[in-house]
Amino acid sequence: MITITDDIKYIGVDDTDLDLFESQYIIPNGVSYNSYLILDDKVAVMDSVDSRKQEEWFASLSAALDGRTPDYLVVQHMEPDHAGSVAAFVARYPEAKIVASTRAVQMLPQFFEEVDFSNSTIEVKEGDKLSLGKHTLQFFMAPMVHWPEVMVTYDEQAKVLFSADGFGKFGALSADEEWACEARRYYFNICGKYGAQVQALLKKAATLDIECICPLHGPILKENLGYYIGLYDTWSRYDVETEGIFIAYASIHGGTAAAAHKLAEILRAKGAPKVSVADLSRDDMAEAVEDAFRMDRLVVAAASYDGGVFPPMHDFLHHLQIKSYQKRKVGIVENGSWAPCAARVMRSMLETMKDVEIVEPVVTIRSRMKQADIPALEALADALLG
Ligand code: FEO
Repeated sequence: MITITDDIKYIGVDDTDLDLFESQYIIPNGVSYNSYLILDDKVAVMDSVDSRKQEEWFASLSAALDGRTPDYLVVQHMEPDHAGSVAAFVARYPEAKIVASTRAVQMLPQFFEEVDFSNSTIEVKEGDKLSLGKHTLQFFMAPMVHWPEVMVTYDEQAKVLFSADGFGKFGALSADEEWACEARRYYFNICGKYGAQVQALLKKAATLDIECICPLHGPILKENLGYYIGLYDTWSRYDVETEGIFIAYASIHGGTAAAAHKLAEILRAKGAPKVSVADLSRDDMAEAVEDAFRMDRLVVAAASYDGGVFPPMHDFLHHLQIKSYQKRKVGIVENGSWAPCAARVMRSMLETMKDVEIVEPVVTIRSRMKQADIPALEALADALLG
């Protein structure tokens, strides 16, 4: 059992056999559903876990309780990866009160029609406090980080912030991997749309004396907190983390792929700080989304298809639209064997995004990149580096 302080125990579980998180994200190293127990005069459980791992969670909870009974279950977030075991908890500990935001209390019956919550909830609002004895929990609303009912919880005595999905990452606790890579992929794909709301939460957090961040996924953060908070600040402002050019291509028969790789070669030869290339048909879409946000310049290269753009590129640009992609320079390369039309569609999708500048020239190749196409790719590279 991981001990956070003498009174706060980790009682979460790793999930290493889930095929896709939220039915869409690959998780090569699994994911953790974090839950915590605060043992004081009163006993509080901080969030439950996905029902997939309910039995393991109850075993951990029961061991950490050591014969005591929970007085409260604090539900910071109603998404089923955390609140999935609330009904089972209520059945096991009927005397415990559920502490949650008004929106979360409204959502409880949506998920658990069979449970009567009428006498078992305590609704809390911004700044409300709940004394456990030595520990007093203070609640701060964090709407849209990542659902509207989300709140975070500060324990002043322990200087711990329970941050809900904030500062979470993919990867089970048992995985030995650096934080930023999977935290970034998690952030942009799950909270990316809500930069303004994350900024609002960071401003609240800045007023608190925090020595430890306990998120609902991934490791407990105890050291170098400025590093993690700094990255969250960069990401939620949609600022550039890494100077460089990300080339995302969608190629049917390899012609567009060859042009994309040639452009990468030209950019590297011209001294680009960093160039990375992704095949949108085969590489992880969530990682492509992450890389687009991470770098300051993007090139989209795609084949024309059925009077529009090849679907993997359409999917990618749709992801960028819904995640509020913004403040970047974007180059366009299209391919078409008889009626090139991919650039028109890509441009129209990019033009819906805030402060996205299309870098000219837009390059059109016909079926296969030829020697005659190189000057246009060189010109695009110069414009991207200019
Ligand atoms: Fe980890 Fe938004 O749930």
